[in-house]
Amino acid sequence: MKCMLTHLSRWATPTLSRASHSGMRSSSTAASYAKREERLLSPEEVFSREERYGAHNYHPLPVALQRGEGIHVWDVEGRRYFDFLSAYSAVNQGHCHPKIVAALTEQASRLTLTSRAFYNDVLGEYEEFITSLFGYSKILPMNTGVEGGETACKLARKWAYSVKGVPQYQAKIIFAEGNFWGRTMAAISSSTDPSSYEGFGPFMPGFELVPYNHIPALEKALQDPNVAAFMVEPIQGEAGVIVPDPGYLRKVRELCTKYNVLFIADEVQTGLARTGRRLAVDHEGVRPDLLVLGKALSGGMYPVSAVLCDDEVMLTIKPGEHGSTYGGNPLACRVSIAALQVMEEEKLAENAATMGKILRVELNKLPKEIVSVVRGKGLLNAIVIKETKDYDAWRVCLRLRDNGLLAKPTHGDIIRLAPPLIIKEDEIRECAEIIQRTILSF
Ligand SMILES: Cc1ncc(COP(=O)(O)O)c(C=O)c1O
Repeated sequence: MKCMLTHLSRWATPTLSRASHSGMRSSSTAASYAKREERLLSPEEVFSREERYGAHNYHPLPVALQRGEGIHVWDVEGRRYFDFLSAYSAVNQGHCHPKIVAALTEQASRLTLTSRAFYNDVLGEYEEFITSLFGYSKILPMNTGVEGGETACKLARKWAYSVKGVPQYQAKIIFAEGNFWGRTMAAISSSTDPSSYEGFGPFMPGFELVPYNHIPALEKALQDPNVAAFMVEPIQGEAGVIVPDPGYLRKVRELCTKYNVLFIADEVQTGLARTGRRLAVDHEGVRPDLLVLGKALSGGMYPVSAVLCDDEVMLTIKPGEHGSTYGGNPLACRVSIAALQVMEEEKLAENAATMGKILRVELNKLPKEIVSVVRGKGLLNAIVIKETKDYDAWRVCLRLRDNGLLAKPTHGDIIRLAPPLIIKEDEIRECAEIIQRTILSF
C-alpha cells in the first residue's frame, strides 16, 4: 500500500498561487506539482527528493516515515516499526501524545506568537509551573537545545563579570571531552569531535577542555580564578551513552562550590525522565546552578528549550541583553506544560527505570563476540558492535529496520537504544527479542 501525498496537497495551493502572482514558476512546473499531488509516494521518491533538494548534512537510515503513534512509527508503505531512537530523546512521551496534541491545537487557534515585546497570558503560568517543578527561582525560555546551551554560557559569562569579579572578557568555561551540545559556532568550539568542528574555524575563545569523568583534571582546571562555569552532560549521549563513575556528579558539585564556579548541567538529552529519574543529576541528589533542558520539553511537538537557575545568576542579564523572537511564545508554553504534565502523570521516570533494567538484562545475553559492551541508565542505552568484515553497526541497524525496529549508529560502532518512555513490559521484551534475533542472524 502506498500513501497519499497529503503534505504536498496542503502545500500545493499556496505554491501555485504564489507562482501565478510572481511568475517565477512556469505553468508546466505548476502542473507537475498538481499532478504529483494525486500520485502515491514510494520510499525511493522520498529519499531521492531529499537528496536532490536538501543539504547533505545528514546520513539518514533508509526508511521513509509518514506517521507516528506512541512507541510506533509507520513508513509510507504502511510498515510499522518500534522507534528506538525517539528523535534523539525528544519523543519521551511517545509520538503524537493526545494530551500534547490537544494543547498544541487548542492554543494554535487562540494565540501563537506575540514576541516578548508584549506580555502574553500563558508565559507566566508556564514559568511558575516549571520553576516550581524543578526548584529554581527563574526560567529563561528558548527554542532549540543548542540555544539553551548558548544561553547558559552567556549567563555564566555575565555572572563571572558582574558577581565573581573576573576581569573583563577573561572568563573561561570548562567542558568535558566528548561533549555534544549542538551545532552553533560556540557549541562546535568546545567539541573534540572532528566531524563537528573541522572546517568551521576560527573558534570561540575562552573555552577549555578536561577529560570526562576525571575529577583531578577538573579540580586543576577550576583553580584558575577566571573560570566561570563547568558545563557537562550527566551522561554523554551523542558520545555513545558514556555513563560516568558513581559519585562523579557529586564531586563535580563539591568542586564547583569550593572554587566558586557555576555547575551547568546539560540535561537536554538525559533530562525529563529518560534515565529513570526526572533529571539524571537526581541519581546523585545534586542540584546544578544552571539546568539546560530541551528536546522532550515539548514531547517532540515543537522546539522548546529552557535554562533554569536562581536570581543571582539569572538577573545578571538585563532587558535587551538576550532573547529570541519565538522563546516563551504561548504555543510553546502550552505544549511544554502538557509535555511536563504527561511526564509526571504517566510516571515516565519510574517506567524508564523499570523497563531499562529489563532491557539491559536481555541485552547482556547477547554474544560478546558481536556485542562487546552494553551500557546505560533507564531507557538511555547503547550497545557497542565489534566490527568485522561481515557486519558493523550500520548493517545491524539496517537489519533491525528489516525486522521492525529503528535505531541509528553513533560514532561508527555504537547503537543507541532509547525508545519512548511509555513502552510497556511485553513491548520491551518483544523489542529485546527483535534485537537478539537480529544480532544472532549475523
Ligand atoms: C546533550 C545535548 N545538548 C544539546 C543538544 C542540542 O539540541 P538541539 O539539537 O535541539 O539544538 C543535544 C542534541 O542532541 C544534546 O544531546
